[in-house]
Amino acid sequence: MSVLAINRGKKTVPDGSHKIWPIITDEDKKMVMECLDSGILTGPYGPQIQGAEREFAEWLGVKYCLMSNSGTAALHMAVAAAGIGPGDEVIVPSFTFLASALAVMHNNAVPVFADIEPDTFNIDPEKIESKITPRTRAIIPVHLHGLCADMDPVLEIARRRGLLVIEDCAQAHGAKYKGRAAGTMGDMAFFSVQASKNLPCGEGGFFVTNNEKFAAAANSVRLFGQNASFDDESLVDPLRPLDRGRGFESIGMGWQYMPGELPAAVTRAQLRKLDERNANARANGDFLSNAIKDIPGVIPPRIPENRVTVYHKYRIRLDAATAGVNAAPTVFRDRVLAAIQAEGVEACLWETLPLPLQKSFASRVGYGRECPWSCPLRDKPAAPAAPEDYAQAAALLDSSIVIGSHSFPVISQSIDTMKMYAEAIRKVFDNLSELF
Ligand SMILES: Cc1ncc(COP(=O)(O)O)c(C=O)c1O
Repeated sequence: MSVLAINRGKKTVPDGSHKIWPIITDEDKKMVMECLDSGILTGPYGPQIQGAEREFAEWLGVKYCLMSNSGTAALHMAVAAAGIGPGDEVIVPSFTFLASALAVMHNNAVPVFADIEPDTFNIDPEKIESKITPRTRAIIPVHLHGLCADMDPVLEIARRRGLLVIEDCAQAHGAKYKGRAAGTMGDMAFFSVQASKNLPCGEGGFFVTNNEKFAAAANSVRLFGQNASFDDESLVDPLRPLDRGRGFESIGMGWQYMPGELPAAVTRAQLRKLDERNANARANGDFLSNAIKDIPGVIPPRIPENRVTVYHKYRIRLDAATAGVNAAPTVFRDRVLAAIQAEGVEACLWETLPLPLQKSFASRVGYGRECPWSCPLRDKPAAPAAPEDYAQAAALLDSSIVIGSHSFPVISQSIDTMKMYAEAIRKVFDNLSELF
């Protein structure tokens, strides 16, 4: 029996074994210098923004792509472009990042929560239909942790019930479902390029669609509700980049969601590395799953055969009873996490509460006075989430941990580090009597 590092034993993963994320190369630096040398730092027709939009659209295989200053902004652009407004409802999974639901509220609409599948962590298509009311306008399936939601039944329900589908691909650049890319299956989709994502630039996002009407509406929403055209090249004079040939005419409600040229330049450089880095994340995640699957009480993530994941996060479930320990799930989770971290493994809890239990939604803070749930345009307030709408999400969060942290995620590590991770997890589970 070896002594656990948390009890002053030797650490399994030595200091200095990790590679930080994002990985910045000379290509990133070159692109940034080129951008600075151009003297153009802003503008919807800036060369870096237009280049990033063109290259991302080509990489993904979509007709329209608009870059924004965050993924949340890109989702709000989609919600607004769909005409979803006060009193309307949008179905969102109970387990996702806050932004998936907050962006719905940004347009005064109500997020309605549907529970998740316990083993893929994504929205359970069987839980969607009972959440549909006459006010429902759209479903936002989230491809969480880089694994696509079960899209065929989601799309079938949406078609049959006349709803739009907006894919949340914030964590899923390069993920596939039955050969189709995340972001190409619904009516609209968005990606985040925030620094922790598989495609990182700092802060930013992409709105994508194949629908010209939605693209035009989102383009207007992105910049003060202006009557903006996509490709009026005559508006860019590289010698006078801040002087534009058009007036500022607002044709509808709008925000300021433009990114700058510098993040767009970094995104372009990072995009060239995305497929290679996703392949590394996949190799690492698959290796780890294989190496730890026989440890009693450890359940690696399930990746259905019809899907390709990009392991933006690698989450394992823990089962105290199978491990032979009599402890509450959160007690087991927290002690195992501390012991694994002490062994030198980068690991964390990413979210601890399902969305319906977070104060903003549970106490109906919103804009105050229960808006948007009690919006005057509704005949009655939206129903609160019931425990069965988040039971699986709550159970998952109580009994799972993420291997990899934001600064040192699985995607930037080597297989040798994964080997040490597997050894460390096995060591902790072989010595649980030291913890309980
Ligand atoms: C699932 C999900 N949706 C939406 C977002 C929002 O993206 P951003 O941070 O770029 O606004 C994130 C970001 O972490 C996310 O993980």
